[in-house]
Amino acid sequence: MTVTLRSVRPDDLPVFFVHQSDPEAAAMAGFTPRARDAFDAHWSRIIAGPAFVVRTVEVAGAVAGYVSAFPREGRTEIAYWLGRDYWHRGIGRTAVAMFLVQQRERPLFASVIDTNGASQTILEHCGFTVVREEAGDDGVRERTLRLD
Ligand SMILES: CC(C)(COP(=O)(O)OP(=O)(O)OC[C@H]1O[C@@H](n2cnc3c(N)ncnc32)[C@H](O)[C@@H]1OP(=O)(O)O)[C@@H](O)C(=O)NCCC(=O)NCCS
Repeated sequence: MTVTLRSVRPDDLPVFFVHQSDPEAAAMAGFTPRARDAFDAHWSRIIAGPAFVVRTVEVAGAVAGYVSAFPREGRTEIAYWLGRDYWHRGIGRTAVAMFLVQQRERPLFASVIDTNGASQTILEHCGFTVVREEAGDDGVRERTLRLD
């Protein structure tokens, strides 16, 4: 299985839309899926914004998801999302590790809800450590991890 990262193309976006609309994936990430209009507006900003770095994750020539870095509250965070068909095969770990070789900015941060064990394991495998844990307004506990 070969995992590659490449620049995002417009025809990746409908695939990302399907991935973010998956209720199981959204619950895992602690994320409310966007409706199509909001999704399109959000990704238009990402693709136009020089502060955003997004790489499409390809597996065997198919779009498996993305890894991104983006500004949030004065620092740079990473995030990633794979379609459910690609879970549990080490693709997330490989893609994030590859992205971190390409993106040399440090420190980098990531936010993970405390029930998202797979995401936290990926980050820890890549060298991130937990620097904060707190409950949000919704009561969901979120961990902040940092990579120096
Ligand atoms: C999170 C996500 C990227 C994981 O991708 P994946 O390809 O399935 O993950 P991998 O197979 O590379 O690795 C997962 C690791 O977590 C471990 N893991 C799985 N479930 C776990 C759990 N509940 N608790 C702790 N570790 C867990 C796996 O054993 C594996 O560890 P290993 O490399 O030591 O074997 C994917 O599920 C996803 O996109 N989910 C929806 C969006 C999301 O949650 N994004 C992250 C938001 S912070």
